[in-house]
Amino acid sequence: MYVKKVAVVGAGTMGADIAYNFAMANIPVVLRDVDSKILDKAQEHIRALMQGRVTKGRLSAADMEKRLAQIQFSTQDEALLDVSLAIEAVPESLRLKQEVFRELDRLLPPLAILASNTSALAITEMANVTTRPERVAGMHFFYPAHTMKLVEIIAGDETDPEATATLVRLSEELRKIPVLVQECPGFVVNRILMAALTEVLRFKQENHLSPQDIDRVVTARKLAPMGLFVLADALGLDIAWEVSQILEKAYGDRFNPGTELGELVRQHHLGIKTGQGFYPYQSPPSNAIPNSTPMSPEQQEELANRFSLAIFCEATRLWEEGRANQKSIDIAMRAGAGLPMGPFAAADKAGLDVVYDNLKEMSQQFGSRFAPPTSLAQLVSRGQLGEKSGRGYFHYKM
Ligand SMILES: NC(=O)c1ccc[n+]([C@@H]2O[C@H](COP(=O)([O-])OP(=O)(O)OC[C@H]3O[C@@H](n4cnc5c(N)ncnc54)[C@H](O)[C@@H]3O)[C@@H](O)[C@H]2O)c1
Repeated sequence: MYVKKVAVVGAGTMGADIAYNFAMANIPVVLRDVDSKILDKAQEHIRALMQGRVTKGRLSAADMEKRLAQIQFSTQDEALLDVSLAIEAVPESLRLKQEVFRELDRLLPPLAILASNTSALAITEMANVTTRPERVAGMHFFYPAHTMKLVEIIAGDETDPEATATLVRLSEELRKIPVLVQECPGFVVNRILMAALTEVLRFKQENHLSPQDIDRVVTARKLAPMGLFVLADALGLDIAWEVSQILEKAYGDRFNPGTELGELVRQHHLGIKTGQGFYPYQSPPSNAIPNSTPMSPEQQEELANRFSLAIFCEATRLWEEGRANQKSIDIAMRAGAGLPMGPFAAADKAGLDVVYDNLKEMSQQFGSRFAPPTSLAQLVSRGQLGEKSGRGYFHYKM
């Protein structure tokens, strides 16, 4: 479907950046909020982002004005009447989002697509309050949405493939990297990242280590682009806690984060935004990891193993459940979480027989969350051992 004009509903942190992306792609966009002061702030923010590109010589001043003119800032319903797609980016509450979806369903043309930028709520539960569940999908941008390339396109139970195909094409027009996901709690990136964070939290508690002890090893060994506790503090521990609760309820004990995260939230230590999270923050907040006591080489090895294998096991569950294919999962974890390699490519590189043996040992020591996945056992039994045999999760030239 050709998308002539888009509405972004909710002009906060995510909505303003999403509207910026459309304007930069020369697609007319209505940015809607209930609060006109927030619209003023959003306009200032978008102007500053564009001005940054002008200063770097990537956009002419005349083009900046043309791009800005693509955005209509509005608190009015009328502005939505002729859009082909609305992307909802209001706060993360199912009740509120359902209210917004009911309203959009009433206002928008019958063929318009309704999308949600939710991080963790069920698309199907939003679709169910509309008269067009086949035209409701997730379009999950990542923070900060003006630079992050990944967009998860999520199909709910009744979403028509034509609607998700439109969102995939449109994301490409925004020069983003779309990956298609069949709805499940946490989608791809948050589900896998949270599995890794939960495992690392367990390791931290078992070994009485500090956040910096762990973050240092994570970054020094290039397991992730930044320390996990630095990342959690930046995201907001209240949000991390909420997502972990949703995932634990959906998938069980392997997502139980232990006591520390909940305790920090209870004390209102929510990360950078409150000045204290896993780390203390002075203003301006610093991303540097303070000094730490070194971990033993054995501990470092165990941390790296538990981190990488928690990611691999969750990725294979997603694939085996048919939520997304291996290629999409690998792309999502690189573009959305900054991992140096996708979990399937990394396993193929390490050797699937090696990963299998490693998981067998780990599952004996730590329990069934590390049980070797069925797909892995099958590949190994067929001699498809990854890069070294020319075939594993992917094919390789020999
Ligand atoms: N912030 C992130 O890092 C991030 C990343 C990915 C996805 N998300 C998701 O994006 C969504 C928005 O998050 P955010 O951080 O931008 O929130 P935010 O609080 O910064 O912005 C929400 C905006 O929605 C407006 N709003 C509330 N009710 C409205 C209504 N009925 N109609 C129009 N506008 C309304 C508010 O005035 C506010 O400006 C959430 O679902 C969140 O889970 C957030």
